[in-house]
Amino acid sequence: MGTYYNTIASSYDALHKEEQLQKLAIIKKRLKIDDSMKLLDVGCGTAFAKDYFDCEYYGIDPAEKLLKQNYLALINKRLFVASAEKIPFDDDSFDIIISVTSLQNFDDVAKALIEMKRVAKETCQFALSFLKKANNAKEIEKEIIGKFAILERIEEKKDIILFCKK
Ligand SMILES: C[S@@+](CC[C@H](N)C(=O)[O-])C[C@H]1O[C@@H](n2cnc3c(N)ncnc32)[C@H](O)[C@@H]1O
Repeated sequence: MGTYYNTIASSYDALHKEEQLQKLAIIKKRLKIDDSMKLLDVGCGTAFAKDYFDCEYYGIDPAEKLLKQNYLALINKRLFVASAEKIPFDDDSFDIIISVTSLQNFDDVAKALIEMKRVAKETCQFALSFLKKANNAKEIEKEIIGKFAILERIEEKKDIILFCKK
């Protein structure tokens, strides 16, 4: 999967940004964010979400070429080449964790969710989305329900978005 996203890296935004911004709008409306907060975007792609949230943004993604599309953020150490299954941050680091249309690509969703909980502060707000049509959509939702307290479930055009807390 990482290889696929590296291959389409230079055209990713042209192909997907508009559609993804609609999901970010739904997410932003429901999160309580202020500029002192730290936000982690797991499976951030080219990290265009960085310009969308007014707070301290960090992103991780295993596809280095996608991150390189946002070179300034990469060299400013806001983006890291890393997988959700091994998040390179300390425990209790983040106020907000989002993962937009990425969970269906993870190698080990359960491990990734445990990692997200580990790096989240007790009060962390989570917005986790995945493709409705993904083969593993049911399993992903079951894993999230088993590990988080669900606050709201939204079905948008292509994704299921779950808003949750620890
Ligand atoms: C459909 S894209 C979504 C990217 C971005 N969130 C957006 O809204 O445009 C899926 C992303 O999941 C990433 N991904 C694949 N496996 C991953 C893993 N194990 N951990 C974190 N991200 C992963 C891919 O590299 C890709 O950037």
